[in-house]
Parts: sequence; structure tokens; C-alpha cells
Amino acid sequence: MLIGLKEALSYADSHSCAIAAVNTPVFESLVATIRVAEKHQVPVILAHAQSHEKINRITDIGPAMLELARRSSVPCVVHVDHGEDLDYIRTGLELGFTSVMLDGSRLPFEENVARTAEAVRIARSFGADVEGELGVMTGNENGDPDQGVADEALYTDPEVAGQFVERTGVACLAASFGTVHGLYHREPHLDLDLISRLRARTGVPIVMHGGSGLSQDEYRACIARGVRKINYYTYSAKAGLDGARALLADRAGVFVYPDVAVAATDAIAEDVGSFVRCLYGIGG
Ligand code: 13P
Repeated sequence: MLIGLKEALSYADSHSCAIAAVNTPVFESLVATIRVAEKHQVPVILAHAQSHEKINRITDIGPAMLELARRSSVPCVVHVDHGEDLDYIRTGLELGFTSVMLDGSRLPFEENVARTAEAVRIARSFGADVEGELGVMTGNENGDPDQGVADEALYTDPEVAGQFVERTGVACLAASFGTVHGLYHREPHLDLDLISRLRARTGVPIVMHGGSGLSQDEYRACIARGVRKINYYTYSAKAGLDGARALLADRAGVFVYPDVAVAATDAIAEDVGSFVRCLYGIGG
């Protein structure tokens, strides 16, 4: 069934977990993510980032995300990830997405506030909620290993974050505290204390972007400090490629393309499965 962002976040609060927000730009990752959520009977966020338009357009993959979410046996949020402009966010909301992120993190503060507040106004007219972002994370949402080193100078300041949340009305805040998008070029050093201070000052759930490449202990430590949504893409996408490669290496000549899609789906499901079990505290 389709649910809103706030419902998912309140589930996370009451279960002391973080909701898995998986980017599903291809049908294989979409089916795999729902399969995992249904297996464990947990809510999940299916996300499409604006930067993934070159893989599939939101107007093509979005209706499939929504249809699978509606008929799923578990609660699913369908979310615009890293919306860069208001038109894109509106496109998602018109399709029926129940949640959007406006990423104004690279804008000057006042512009970020103004654009995010406008996103909140638009989203509310559709009955949806907004994730905002403050503080800059390096890397990008395409899994390109270009800059996988966090820069402490760009971490989110709790006092400024408090003002940002008050002035925009966002339901949750993506913050910079040591994670990067894509692959890490060096051991991540997360500022756990900063997560606690951000949560205390803003009063809203904190969102971790750049979920790939952290240990299970790191996920759990961040959840204990107030992270309630963790975005995940690169490792699941890599797992799909590895699954496809393994099939091609094993059975040269005896397959058709859909066999590759099935192998990729299974491999993504396995990878997302371990991520989900850790976030929701399933199986010890
Ligand atoms: P990773 O690609 O590092 O998992 O991050 C995904 C993300 O944050 C999408 O918004």
C-alpha cells in the first residue's frame, strides 16, 4: 500500500529503526526492493533521483513504482530523490508520488530556504511532505566514484539546521556528517555526536544519504543517534552488475537477455536484503 513520508518516519521512530530508501531507477531494482520489504514485512521507500532521468524518466518508471507500491502487502513511500528544481518535484507529485526531496544544499542559505519552503507549499497541496537538505555531501547519486572523501568544513551546522527546519517546514532533514554518495575513497569517519545535536536542535528525523559502504555497526550507531531514513543506491546497483557478470561468465551462449535481468534482480535482492535486515534489526 502507498503511504506518506511522515507515516514511514513515525514507524521508524516507534520501532527505533531507519527506513530503507532505495533508488530504483530500473525495473530490476524496483522488483528486488519490494520483494525484500515483503519478505520481512517492513515499510520501504522507493526513490527516483532526478539525476537518474538518463536511466529511466520519472514519467516512465514512476507509474510502475506507484502501481507496485499500491498493490504491495507492505507500506511503501514513493519518493522523488534529489529534486533539483520545483518543476521536477511537481512532475513527481502529479504522477502520485507521496514524498519529495528538494535538494538546495548547494545554493546559498537564503535561496535554499526559499526554494525548499516553496517545495513544501507545493507538496502540501498534493498532501505530500518534503525532505530538505542542508550541508554539502561530496560524490553524486549515480554511483560514480569521483570524490569519495567527506569534507568536514561542509558538515551541517545544528543551529543553522534548526533555523532551516523552522523556516521551511520540512518533515525530515538530509544532513552532512561524514557520509559521501557513491564509493568511499577512504574509511568513513562519521560524526555521531553531530547527528544527536542535529536531531535535538531541529526536532525532525535526520536522513543519511550515501548509505553504501558503511558497516552494520555504523548504521546502528547512526540510528541510535536519530537517523530515521537511510538512502541506498551504489552498492545495490553494483550487486546487480556483479550478478549479471557472474551469469555471463558461467553460462556463455545458453541465455537470453531476460536471464541477465533475473540474475541482476536476484543479486540486488540479496544485497538490499542485508541492508534492510540491519536497518530494521531483523535476525539479531
Ligand atoms: P549511495 O549511492 O552512497 O548508496 O547513496 C545513495 C543516496 O544517498 C541517494 O540519495
